[in-house]
Amino acid sequence: MRKRIAIFASGRGSNAVNIIRHFRCSSVAEAVVVISNRHDAEVLGHARELGVECRVISRDELSDARNLLAMLNAFHIDYIVLAGFLLRIPACLIDSYEGRIVNIHPSLLPRFGGKGMYGRHVHEAVVAAGERISGITVHLVTERFDEGRILFQATVDIDKTDTPHDVASKVLALEHRHFPEVVERWIAGEHDA
Ligand code: GRF
Repeated sequence: MRKRIAIFASGRGSNAVNIIRHFRCSSVAEAVVVISNRHDAEVLGHARELGVECRVISRDELSDARNLLAMLNAFHIDYIVLAGFLLRIPACLIDSYEGRIVNIHPSLLPRFGGKGMYGRHVHEAVVAAGERISGITVHLVTERFDEGRILFQATVDIDKTDTPHDVASKVLALEHRHFPEVVERWIAGEHDA
């Protein structure tokens, strides 16, 4: 039986789309629903075009996780992939899906993680600090958001002339190259200790 994935995304959704496409041809898992906290998130249109169910949950519905758990149960969800989801995941969801929620962060954690470090803020901080490399981190989600077990990192060189926008493009290319395969290996149990 293929495992069933819910993708949580708040915005553009390029990673979500990439994952949906990848798992269409996978024997390991399939992406069955995209959940967003924004009814106008670009990701929803893309997911619908790809024939994937979509649901929108408000911040309040997220904090009272019973609704969300019921929604995930209705879709028989085994694993949750956070792909640019900007709200905090409630503790009760983390407990219910312990070890089965993964996130991608656009830096080499623990560098440039934590409060306020999302989207362009990460790349601005990386450039401001004069870093010569950046990259991606795929990690398990715990209550301390950017601190769960790291499953995978990949790096990219930063040129002296790179702007935060340039770094963002390089990092996004790395995300697209690696994230679906890392998720697939994780679900297949290849990252187990
Ligand atoms: C990615 O850079 C990801 O690392 C971060 O949010 C961004 C989402 O981009 N968590 P997209 O919505 O997948 O295009």
